[in-house]
Amino acid sequence: MNSSPPKGTYDVIPENSSMPWRESDKWDYIEEAARECARLFGCKQIRTPIFEHLELFTRSVGESSDIVSKEMYQFEDRSQRKLVLRPEGTACAVRAAIEGRLYETPFTRLYYIGPMFRYERPQAGRFRQHQQLGVELLGSAHPQVDVEAIQMMLMFFERVGIPHLTLNINSLGTKECQKKYSAALKTYLEQHAHALSEDSKRRLITNPLRILDSKDIKDHEVLEKAPVILDLLNEEAAAHFATVKTLLEKLAIPFVINTNLVRGLDYYTHTVFEVTSSALGAQNAIGGGGRYDNLVHELGGPHLPAVGFATGLERVITTALAAQVHMPPTDPVHIVLLPMEESAQEKAFLLASILRRARIRVIIDRKSKKIVDAIHSALKIQAAFFCPLGSHELKSGYVKLKNLSTREEHEISFEDLKSFFVTGAQK
Ligand code: HAM
Repeated sequence: MNSSPPKGTYDVIPENSSMPWRESDKWDYIEEAARECARLFGCKQIRTPIFEHLELFTRSVGESSDIVSKEMYQFEDRSQRKLVLRPEGTACAVRAAIEGRLYETPFTRLYYIGPMFRYERPQAGRFRQHQQLGVELLGSAHPQVDVEAIQMMLMFFERVGIPHLTLNINSLGTKECQKKYSAALKTYLEQHAHALSEDSKRRLITNPLRILDSKDIKDHEVLEKAPVILDLLNEEAAAHFATVKTLLEKLAIPFVINTNLVRGLDYYTHTVFEVTSSALGAQNAIGGGGRYDNLVHELGGPHLPAVGFATGLERVITTALAAQVHMPPTDPVHIVLLPMEESAQEKAFLLASILRRARIRVIIDRKSKKIVDAIHSALKIQAAFFCPLGSHELKSGYVKLKNLSTREEHEISFEDLKSFFVTGAQK
């Protein structure tokens, strides 16, 4: 049988020297950074199903979006229910918030870490199953919350250690502004339809706003003179966006206004934002988000404004590695025991049990045949201590505990081993 995973997917495993971004330690490191940032902003974790009803995404992300029209993993279960593997987390979070009546709780600030599924053409940084950290802040229309969402995403990248990112922002205004703008854009683009790419000619009929997302150079030329959404914002939307910009300046967060930034999902209103990394190549969006004031109501909940973001964790790790960020293992094994002969196996097993009950991380090396190999393995997993056990130790009741960073040796009786770690400075 072929051992490779399906196209566009990958395994996270303890060691992968050719693809270090797939190593478990890196994932633990950034997920811990994510949780730390989420807690800083008072967010609580949610876990929603991996599959949802098809309708959830057609009604939120939008029928004409690329995600819904061509990228969903859609299937029928044995009772002919139309289901999809979730392509994104916002609709799921909002559905769960409605289901759990979370808007009745004092704060509805949610975060999630988990896989999303999109049937895209795989390439560097683009997968059919990718992992997102997503954050959804429900309940306030205040522009401060837009800036909190942006700041939180940037603080996450900063906490991971990623430098030099570009924050792009735009405003899509209210749904009325979008309608007005869409019509103006359509009129303009129709006059230049002959010069558009084939894809964009199609989008001109289904959703002209999507043309702004196009990567095609032909479209870019046409778009240069296209009307700009910021010129068509109503008073309320313009004031909202002005406050967002002022607050970003007050926090000394640099940004670029990108009037072509519309994002590929239909639920956005007002502020949208995307952070790009030059280390990523073509798939350079490391995270994105925006405000979605109508979605909760559209999915059957109360009128509840909201804003959020999501970042692709594969891209976060890749960017961090490109910036030489050191992502050490969280809580590596503290001590490696090496039973050097059959008679020492049981003692090692019992000692490991005593130490683990005292919350000391222990592993027994049952593979290495020589001390040098065992020390090499212990160093590789960044263990702090190494402890060989043979007939000599069994007879004397003492072990020679080697500190792997200082190279010091401590002679300690079996009885004192636990307290050496628990009470000493060695923990
Ligand atoms: P999105 O921009 O579609 O937004 O995805 C968020 C991030 O996920 C992207 O910036 C990118 O880093 C990563 N990503 C997306 N697709 C792939 C892929 N195929 N392979 C690898 N990484 C990928 C959303 O999903 C919205 N739900 C964000 C949001 C939350 N808006 C408001 N709240």
